[in-house]
Amino acid sequence: MDSFLINTIKEAGTIALDYFDQLAEIKIKKKGDRDLVTVADVKVESFIRKKLLGKYPKHSFYGEESGIQEGSASRWIVDPIDGTHSFVRGQYYWSISIALEIEHELQMGAVYAPRLNDLYFAKKGEGAFKNDSKIVTSNVDQLREAMVSTGFACLRSNLEKNNLERFSRIAENTMGQRRFGSAAMDLCMVADGQVDAFWEQHLNLYDIAAGVLIVKEAGGSITDFTGEKIINPEAVLATNSKLLDEILAYM
Ligand code: IPD
Ligand code: CA
Ligand code: CA
Repeated sequence: MDSFLINTIKEAGTIALDYFDQLAEIKIKKKGDRDLVTVADVKVESFIRKKLLGKYPKHSFYGEESGIQEGSASRWIVDPIDGTHSFVRGQYYWSISIALEIEHELQMGAVYAPRLNDLYFAKKGEGAFKNDSKIVTSNVDQLREAMVSTGFACLRSNLEKNNLERFSRIAENTMGQRRFGSAAMDLCMVADGQVDAFWEQHLNLYDIAAGVLIVKEAGGSITDFTGEKIINPEAVLATNSKLLDEILAYM
């Protein structure tokens, strides 16, 4: 199943890159206030859905663009292009995210950044990998020495309490801050130690499902903003585990 998933996400990457290389031609639509979707998102997801359900017809499917098909305890959770806003501007930090959940437990996850040609993969209990090399989270154990990343999905929905104040609090107490534009990539960059912590509120399960498994298998922590060890797309905090207690005080 692993190689089938990896082949599927790589083929999906080729399709996405074809669209990426002819951005001037592709139609961009708004699917909400400050939320875009393109023909690439739709075509990549329909390719992935056809491949996965062609091989596992009894499985359920939850994709950002095509919605939910229930009926099985085995469910594929797919974001065909995570970072559409980056994609349409010709930036490189966008990715494809595919996770397999069985009986509500994440079992396998892959995040592929086609333009960077980086493929992250994890299977529950078997570690995390980037381009077939094992990855682990960083050793940074003081927030003042840390590089952190976040996102501002919250601003699309005019949430009461958004991320701006939290970002200022944390930025004042960290060495570096980044906003890469793909939550799936943000999580993978915690997993391979490029970043020491990532948090974002108001995401969706398809943004984070594969990435949270990759972080956990790389030795990182996944909690909500109170430190509860749950996967909550409304409030996801990923760290290298060493910074968890200290960063929670600023969340
Ligand atoms: C977006 C990216 C971004 C995050 C947004 C998401 P999309 O995914 O993950 O980093 O801040 O909230 O919506 O919409 O491009 O699939
Ligand atoms: Ca997304
Ligand atoms: Ca998406």
